[in-house]
This record gives sequence, C-alpha cells and structure tokens, in this order.
Amino acid sequence: MEVIILPTAEEVGRAAAAAVVSVMRKKASAVIGLATGSSPQGIYTDLRRRVNAGDVSFANAYGFALDEYIGIPLEHPESYASVITRDVVEPLGFTPDRVRVPDGRAAIPAFAAKEYDAAIRAAGGIDVQILGIGTNGHIGFNEPTSSFASRTRIKTLAPSTREANARFFDSPDQVPTHCMTQGLGTILEAERLVLVAQGSAKADAVAAAIEGPLSSFVPGSALQLHEHATVIVDEEAAAGLRLADYYRYTYANKPEWQQVS
Ligand code: GLP
Repeated sequence: MEVIILPTAEEVGRAAAAAVVSVMRKKASAVIGLATGSSPQGIYTDLRRRVNAGDVSFANAYGFALDEYIGIPLEHPESYASVITRDVVEPLGFTPDRVRVPDGRAAIPAFAAKEYDAAIRAAGGIDVQILGIGTNGHIGFNEPTSSFASRTRIKTLAPSTREANARFFDSPDQVPTHCMTQGLGTILEAERLVLVAQGSAKADAVAAAIEGPLSSFVPGSALQLHEHATVIVDEEAAAGLRLADYYRYTYANKPEWQQVS
C-alpha cells in the first residue's frame, strides 16, 4: 500500500485527481468507481478544473457508484443517484447512460445487487475506485464486521453512520436505515484503489485501516489485501499513523518510474 501524506485537504484532492487522470490517459473509456460523501469533493473539484481546461474528458468513461440508500425516492436530493448526477456526471461531462448507481428501489433488491456486480464485470471491471472512509472504518457502506468476501448487497447502516450523514438531511430520523453497497470483495476486484481522508475525525479510522490488523471490524483494512492501493491523507487525518515519517520519506524519495501520475 502506498500512503501519501500531504499538507492540506486541497492537495489531497489534487493528488487523487492526478491518479484518476493517469488512468484516463491510458484508457479514455476507463471504468471509474465513484464515491459520494465529503471526502471525494476535492477530487471532483480538481477533475472539473482539468475537464474545463481540456486536459481530460470523461465523455467515453464509465462510472459505477459505490452505494445507494434504500427507502428514499430516486429524485430525493440526497439519493446517491441525485448526488452522483449533481457532483460527478454533470460537472465532469460523463455520458449519463454510462454511469450507474445501485438500484435502491428495486422490487427484489437481492436480484438488483447481483445484477450490479454482473454489470461491473460486463464493463470489464473497475479501473480505478475512488474511496472515502467513515469514522468507524467503513468503506462504501460496508459497516464493521462486513465480510472481506462480500458482494453488492443490502446493509443496515450503523447508528454512527446515520448520525454522521444526518447533516445532509433535514433531521436525523430522515436518514435511511438501509442501503445497497458494493461489497468489500467487489471493491477489492478493482484494478486500483485510491482512498482519500481529510481532517482529525478520520485519524483513528485511517490508522486502524493502514496499520491495524486485518479485521472485518475495520472494513478499510481490506485495502491491505489489494495489490495497488493508494491512501492519500492530509496531516490531520495522518495524525494517528505510527509510520508517518516513513511514508513522508518514501514519497519524497519516490523514483520517477514509480510516480502516481
Ligand atoms: C459515506 C459513504 C462512503 C463515504 C463515507 C465517509 O456515508 N457511503 O462512501 O466514504 O461515508 O463519508 P464522508 O466522506 O462524508 O466523511
């Protein structure tokens, strides 16, 4: 795993965007795994800047969102379908019918979940998966004790996740109790993982995921199993890392042939 510590949240967004662009340069029809939440916002902002500058185009790319709520209508402004349209598809110029979000409204959610994994495979697999991490260590909506082998499925949101996401809703009780999320096994099949975290609230989760034991209690620790995972954090989110100096030293001495982008 590569761990990159940068001084500011803005630099985290820029570095992660550069990783996505490096994938796009090799393959204009790349399949991008899309995360919602606050963490990837800096990535999308920088990608938008690059799109506007004519540096990259997502018109031929494909997108698969990590997760979706169950229990709110598609047109709800906080459904992840709405968020992905607003934050990713429109500003970055993705072709709308090339971007999918798990179907949280399916009559038979288990079928829809299976079909979602099949659609990712049919698209050739995810080339680069953008990830954030929850304060309890979740990635996607894979809450603690999610199996490392899990596939896209329905999950019950942890009370702490509902609390954390209450800021997007008018009141905490409006946050759905359930979701459909790519599984850890699904996420681990992506060619490349790029996880970003900013702020001191994420420091414990980041340390546990990177340096703690491999444990389904900390779903983010699944990244330790991946061949090409990059974690990009700001100084505050890096505060709990015991080997922070080593990561800084490694990044400062990174040979040309090993550059992220
Ligand atoms: C959310 C999402 C995750 C996200 C995490 C952290 O609810 N389902 O994909 O990475 O929780 O959220 P944030 O980036 O807003 O802190």
